Amino acid sequence: MREEYSCGILTMSDKGSRGEREDTSGKNLREIMRAAGFKIDAYQIIPDNEKIISATLKDWADSRGLDLIITTGGTGVSPSDVTPEATAEVIDRELPGIAEAMRQASFRITPHAVLSRARCGIRGNCLIINLPGSKKAAQENIAVVLSALPHAIYKIKGGTADCGHA
Ligand code: MTE
Repeated sequence: MREEYSCGILTMSDKGSRGEREDTSGKNLREIMRAAGFKIDAYQIIPDNEKIISATLKDWADSRGLDLIITTGGTGVSPSDVTPEATAEVIDRELPGIAEAMRQASFRITPHAVLSRARCGIRGNCLIINLPGSKKAAQENIAVVLSALPHAIYKIKGGTADCGHA
């Protein structure tokens, strides 16, 4: 059996952070990641504020030592959407293939998929993945890459087994 990797779910929503909107996407992602064998070690709803987002990502990656952070929301083109900028600020290495695959697969579902500016990358030993904000969009996007995540994390943490075997 593989190691149980730790995962944080971070929801970006001004209304959600004020308790004015239920976080259906974040809650659904918790279930999806749990069912996929991850341990949910952090969950929070924060406003669409670049400084707060980057500070939270840094705290979860560096101090809490999470293996994976999944964000939902704030990837679009509204003036308040700043999740990709906050993510770009904190990652050491970008992992563009994850976002590319999600957008490509999503485009077969809706042409609006091109409106997500989601970015993915690595900070230290932590993989950070941006997802769109709606429950439907987040679920469709994570489904595209879920099966690649354990191997990605294994490699990020320095795993040396051949790629065909880990
Ligand atoms: N991707 C999938 N698979 N399904 C969707 O319904 N919605 C799109 C896009 N990606 C969508 C999707 C829409 S309408 C927007 S505006 C962008 O994600 C950005 O969403 P966000 O601003 O909530 O992050």
